Amino acid sequence: MLQHPQVKGPGVGLLGFSLGADICLSMASFLKNISATVSINGSGSSGNSTIHYKQISIPPLGLDLKRIKVTFSGILDIVDIRNDIVEKFENPSIIPIEKAQGPILFIAGQDDHNWRSDLNVQTASERLQAHGKEKPRIILYPGTGHYIEPPYFSVCPASVHKLFNKVVIWGGELRAHSKAQVDAWKQILSFFSQHLGGTHKGVSPKL
Ligand SMILES: *[C@@H]1O[C@H](CO)[C@@H](O)[C@H](O)[C@H]1NC(C)=O
Ligand SMILES: *[C@@H]1O[C@H](CO)[C@@H](O)[C@H](O)[C@H]1NC(C)=O
Ligand SMILES: *[C@@H]1O[C@H](CO)[C@@H](O)[C@H](O)[C@H]1NC(C)=O
Repeated sequence: MLQHPQVKGPGVGLLGFSLGADICLSMASFLKNISATVSINGSGSSGNSTIHYKQISIPPLGLDLKRIKVTFSGILDIVDIRNDIVEKFENPSIIPIEKAQGPILFIAGQDDHNWRSDLNVQTASERLQAHGKEKPRIILYPGTGHYIEPPYFSVCPASVHKLFNKVVIWGGELRAHSKAQVDAWKQILSFFSQHLGGTHKGVSPKL
């Protein structure tokens, strides 16, 4: 990306959602020239498999399928299956985000049914501060589920989860979630324009 003729450099911004957010947080922690990162409902830890970078491996937190709940409609609720982060921010499964060069914006829905995003964000924030970093920017949206997409995408309340090959609920109330999607997009654009030296102010999404 840094060599792409349309990329101004010297750094790039990363935006990821869910597992993609954890990949972005890992890239920001280990790779150079990442100037700003946005994590939308990332877990901040290594979840179902080990993250490898050169000699470093971050072990998975692990999960317990016995904690899956089945809702009355037969759809799974997996919000409690991940193991607790027992040693809090020093847990070895947490991505070492304090190594990131640039700032991180955490966006989380308080009705996320994939995992406890708000708790994960809290742990990430404590870890950054314990390592002498500034408190990161955190935006929590009430009534918002896991699947925070760009504005005006229809709210996805449930869909097939690849890990289980079954339908799981993602959470979110229609109105609150839709409003969060519109607001989150504005916040992301302004964060990137602030930290990637954007020239145009108040960029409006063409959606
Ligand atoms: C990475 O950042 C450094 C410091 O800003 C810069 O000198 C270098 O050119 C950048 N690398 C690339 C590939 O853009
Ligand atoms: C990953 O998920 C599968 C369930 O699909 C589970 O059987 C396995 O134990 C999980 N592995 C870890 C390390 O959590
Ligand atoms: C996912 O993000 C939404 C808002 O973006 C937040 O309300 C929700 O709590 C998050 N989920 C988790 C598990 O953090």
